[in-house]
This record gives sequence, C-alpha cells and structure tokens, in this order.
Amino acid sequence: MLLLAPLFALLGLACAAVAIPLDKADALAECLSKSAVPTDGLGSPDWQLDVAPFNLRLNFTPVGIAVPTTPKQVQDAVICAAKLGIKANAKCGGHSYGSFGLGGEDGHLTIEMDRMNKVVLNNATGIATVEGGSRLGHVAWELYNQGNRAFSHGTCPGVGVGGHSLHGGYGVSSHTKGLALDWMVGATVVLANSTIVNCSETENADLFWAIRGAGSSMGIVTEFRFKTFVVPDTVTFFVASVPWRTEAAALAGMKLVQDFAVNEMPAALNMRVFITTRFVNLEGLFYGDKAGLEAALGPLLKKTNATLALETQGGWLDQVKHFGNGVSVDQSHPYNYHETFYSSSLYTNALNETQLQAFVSYWFKSAKANKRDWYVQIDLHGGNSSAVTAPATHSTSYAHRDFLYMFLFYDRVDKGGAFPAEGFATIQNFVTNITAGIDSPSDWGQYINYPDPRMDQAAAQASYWGQHLPRLQAIKKAVDPDDVFHYPQGILPAA
Ligand SMILES: Cc1cc2nc3c(=O)[nH]c(=O)nc-3n(C[C@H](O)[C@H](O)[C@H](O)COP(=O)(O)OP(=O)(O)OC[C@H]3O[C@@H](n4cnc5c(N)ncnc54)[C@H](O)[C@@H]3O)c2cc1C
Ligand SMILES: *[C@@H]1O[C@H](CO)[C@@H](O)[C@H](O)[C@H]1NC(C)=O
Ligand SMILES: *[C@@H]1O[C@H](CO)[C@@H](O)[C@H](O)[C@H]1NC(C)=O
Ligand SMILES: *[C@@H]1O[C@H](CO)[C@@H](O)[C@H](O)[C@H]1NC(C)=O
Ligand SMILES: *[C@@H]1O[C@H](CO)[C@@H](O)[C@H](O)[C@H]1NC(C)=O
Ligand SMILES: *[C@@H]1O[C@H](CO)[C@@H](O)[C@H](O)[C@H]1NC(C)=O
Ligand SMILES: *[C@@H]1O[C@H](CO)[C@@H](O)[C@H](O)[C@H]1NC(C)=O
Ligand SMILES: *[C@@H]1O[C@H](CO)[C@@H](O)[C@H](O)[C@H]1NC(C)=O
Repeated sequence: MLLLAPLFALLGLACAAVAIPLDKADALAECLSKSAVPTDGLGSPDWQLDVAPFNLRLNFTPVGIAVPTTPKQVQDAVICAAKLGIKANAKCGGHSYGSFGLGGEDGHLTIEMDRMNKVVLNNATGIATVEGGSRLGHVAWELYNQGNRAFSHGTCPGVGVGGHSLHGGYGVSSHTKGLALDWMVGATVVLANSTIVNCSETENADLFWAIRGAGSSMGIVTEFRFKTFVVPDTVTFFVASVPWRTEAAALAGMKLVQDFAVNEMPAALNMRVFITTRFVNLEGLFYGDKAGLEAALGPLLKKTNATLALETQGGWLDQVKHFGNGVSVDQSHPYNYHETFYSSSLYTNALNETQLQAFVSYWFKSAKANKRDWYVQIDLHGGNSSAVTAPATHSTSYAHRDFLYMFLFYDRVDKGGAFPAEGFATIQNFVTNITAGIDSPSDWGQYINYPDPRMDQAAAQASYWGQHLPRLQAIKKAVDPDDVFHYPQGILPAA
C-alpha cells in the first residue's frame, strides 16, 4: 500500500470519485487514508500480529486492516467498506473458533478494535464502560482494581469482550451470576450506514435485544456498559478426578451428575465435566469457602467415587488466574497465543437412558480409541437453580438459555501442523451420535461462540439462533440490509 501512496497523491482522487478502483485494496487504502483512519501496512509487524487468528487452522487474508482508536474512525472505516462494496467485520480478541473477526473468508475489511480497550468503573453506580476492543482479562483486572467488582464471563484472559458478550459469554460464574450478556445494560453501536446509536432496554430496544446474542451481524460496538457485582471475599476452585474407566462406569457416573445438576446443584456451585482420552474431571468454582464446597459437592463425590485433586480457597483474582491457564490476566495488544483446532458444540436438555448410552458408547468405542488429542467439556449450564435460566427465554436473542448442558467438543494438533480429516470426523460424530436419539430439532442447539465453522449458513443460523431467527433476520434487514457485516455463519437479512 505504501508504494501506491505517491500515485494517489499525484492523482488527488477523492474516495467517492473513484469510479473504477485500481483494485479494491488500493481503493480501500486510499479511502481510509483520506479519512485519517489508522491502518496496518501490509506485511508490517502489526499486520502479522493482527491477521493471526487464535485458531491457526483458519487463516484468512483481509483486503485491509483498519486500527481505529476512536468511534469516529470506526464510522469512517465502515463508510469506506460500504462505499466500495467490501464486507467489514470487527475483530476484538480474535478468539472466534471460525476466525469470524477476520470475516471467516478472504477479502474483508478487518476493523481491529483491540487498541480501544479503556475500562472505567463508576464507583457510585457500579456501571462499567468498556471499550469494544477490550479483552476479558483486562476487563476483570480493571474492575477488580478500580472497585473490587466484576461481571460474569468466561475464563480465557485473551478472549475479547466483543465476541464473547455479544453472543453469550458462559464461564465459571454463570451458574451463580448468569451470562456476560445478562450484565450488559447498554452499548454504543456503529451501524452499517455509519450512524452511531446507543441502545438499551429503553432506547433502540430491538437493536439491544439483537446484539445480546447476535451482535456481530448487527453493527460494531465501540463501547459497552455493564452493571457489575461486588466480588465475593472467598471463592474455592476445585478439580475432582472421577474413575470412569469403563463404559458402564461412565454411564452410571453421568446419570449421577445429571441428577445432581437437575435437582440438587446449588446456585453457588459452577461445575463442568471435563473429558479427555486419558482422564475425566469434575471441575469448577464455588462461591464460598472449602467447607461450603464440601457440603455442596461431597455427596456427589462420594456416589461417583471421585477424589478431590485440587481444592483451593482464595480471593477473586486467585480464581481468575487459575482459570487463565497460566496466561497472565491483564491482556491487551500485543497478544500472541494460538492453537490449531476444530470444534463443535451442542446444547441439550437432560439426556434419557438411550441418549446417554449413545454418547458414552461413541466416547468409549470410537473417540477414545482413536488416540487423538480431543476433549469434551460439558458445562452444567442450566438446571433449576442456574442464573442462566432465570431471565425469560425471549428477553435477549440468546436462544438457548433453558438447556441443561452446554457441550464443547474440541480436537487440536500441535501448533502449525496440518489438521487431519479424522479430526473433523471425531468431533462431528460426537454431535451426530448424541442428536440421533433426540426426536425434535428444537430439543437441541449450538453455540455461535463454540461454532462448527463447517456448517453452511442456513444450518448455522437455525442451530445458533433457533426460534429467535425470524426476529433477528427482520432486525438485520432494518439495520444492515446490504449485509455489510457479512460472515459465512452470520444472520442474513429477511427476504
Ligand atoms: C482459549 C479460548 C477460551 C474460551 N473460553 C470461553 C468461555 O469460557 N466461555 C465462553 O462462552 N466462550 C469461550 N470462548 C469462546 C469465545 O467466547 C468466542 O470465541 C468469542 O466470540 C471470542 O470473541 P473475540 O472478540 O475474542 O473474537 P473475534 O474473533 O475478535 O470476534 C468474534 C465475533 O464477534 C464479532 N465482534 C468482535 N468484537 C465486536 C464488536 N466490538 N462489535 C461487533 N462485533 C464484534 C466479530 O466480528 C466476530 O464475528 C473461548 C475461546 C477461546 C479461544
Ligand atoms: C472505588 O471504590 C473502591 C472500594 O470500593 C476504592 O478502593 C477505590 O479507590 C474507588 N475508586 C475511585 C476511583 O473512587
Ligand atoms: C451514548 O451514550 C453515552 C453515555 O451515556 C453518551 O456519552 C453518548 O453521547 C451517547 N451517544 C449517542 C450517539 O447518543
Ligand atoms: C463406586 O465404587 C463402588 C465400589 O467399588 C462400586 O460398587 C460403584 O459401582 C462405583 N460407582 C461408580 C459410579 O463408579
Ligand atoms: C430444584 O429442584 C429440587 C428438587 O426437584 C428442589 O429440592 C430444589 O429446591 C429446587 N431448587 C430451586 C432453586 O428451585
Ligand atoms: C456415530 O459414530 C460412528 C463412528 O463411531 C459413525 O460411524 C456413525 O455414523 C455415528 N452415528 C450417527 C448416527 O451419526
Ligand atoms: C429417549 O428420547 C427419545 C427422543 O424423545 C425417544 O424417542 C426415546 O424413546 C427415549 N428413550 C427412553 C429410553 O426413554
Ligand atoms: C441508518 O440506519 C438506521 C437503522 O436503520 C436508521 O434509523 C437511520 O435513519 C439511518 N441513518 C441514515 C443517515 O440514513
């Protein structure tokens, strides 16, 4: 791009006057430069960093990378893209499993938001204003240090608050405190026609409904407003190992965990079943001390023959660090951690005997035998005491509140290695073997934040947004009729 700058200077072309662009990349670069939108130079160190997605299996080449530091620059970048017929996507933490922050395909304008990461807590109201490019670890760090506060969200410090809270946001606080999007009280959004608007329950309420579940398709959030809670003084994180070495033991164990999740699990306990080829754990976070955890979990541990391998009582940041898996908490630009993987997901209600049997049978007879490096994480998302299920299903566009389980299926290879066909099959067969025994498609769904990027757009929309899809498509038509913010699994405008 730099090489072409003198040519543009010579011709003095205004962006709007370029009838036939030399090519899109050059026209875009010129338009962004005319509006003084900062960009990454092609091939520069910042370009290399910003173009590298968390999932190295899915690399895409943008037609340009804008790096705004103000909402006005986001508006100007959207104007350039729309004018030139280029698709545009916000990228926040770059942690989409489908690399949707890069557009999920080549040739989009990436609007790299991660330089916009200011977090300010209003101590008097408890409302945090969080810029649209912040990463979760930075948000947690700032809220804790500015006022001993937090909101509920997932665990990886590098994940962006953008992708995370606009599509759900489930973590080790969610059974107690709900999803990240349940804490959002307002947002400032740049729409496809470059208008900037606020939305909340009382202002542009349709847009506010839509961004809490499908935000990536509706606009670019430059600033979020989240309510917060005062963090508990004491939390206890734990790992319990369960000896499920045979299919029969796993089936019996899963039934016990399911009964517990449905009937007994207190709101203060957050727990998942974590399954690999080599071991199975129950792990999570308890809002309270060790004695409280032992009272809540002890009976289940006894019945399942589980043993506590780790039980640590500490303060709020201790658990944030623990679940950050060794990555330091306060993450912002530059960020440079990656994996090479394929994933899929599933939400279901409690599984009956046949369905549990199908899952456990596939797990032991096929998946375990293939010796690949996969894991399955089963979050106990719902159940009668879960804060996730408390709001009405239709209160936000997140369609899958009422399901008991949130499964994540994940298969990875060593960094840089090619991803083999049997890795795809291993993951897909988990999903098909479980869903084969579920009669109605409305009795399961999938999570856009744990997407299966190999689904086509129609299947993806139905699976991620279920019964909320028609309303989302109508809102999409109102705010982005030309699908400027397109990506291969996004919401399409109503016909
Ligand atoms: C290591 C790891 C751990 C994870 N842990 C959890 C977890 O505990 N719980 C959980 O629920 N999920 C988890 N996830 C999934 C994560 O929530 C999603 O991948 C999320 O979409 C990532 O957001 P991002 O901003 O980092 O991604 P990006 O790739 O930057 O963006 C994802 C999508 O959001 C859009 N977007 C981003 N910012 C904005 C914005 N400001 N305005 C409008 N659209 C925007 C992008 O265009 C894209 O479509 C994890 C992912 C990884 C890789
Ligand atoms: C906010 O409140 C916390 C304690 O609740 C205090 O430590 C901090 O100094 C306050 N910050 C500001 C900016 O007032
Ligand atoms: C949106 O709300 C914020 C915070 O209340 C305010 O500062 C800003 O001016 C508003 N912007 C628009 C476009 O209304
Ligand atoms: C727990 O161990 C006992 C004694 O070995 C065994 O009878 C029981 O089946 C086990 N239960 C589970 C769920 O593994
Ligand atoms: C959940 O259900 C069980 C029994 O079905 C009941 O004992 C418990 O009180 C319920 N909890 C809540 C929060 O409703
Ligand atoms: C279940 O998994 C097996 C592989 O073990 C696969 O051959 C089969 O097609 C799957 N069943 C369904 C219903 O998808
Ligand atoms: C399990 O549920 C499926 C789908 O609703 C149903 O067809 C099947 O008969 C049920 N099996 C058992 C054992 O209840
Ligand atoms: C931009 O789009 C919004 C949403 O459809 C609409 O309300 C607004 O009037 C549009 N602004 C302009 C300048 O066209």
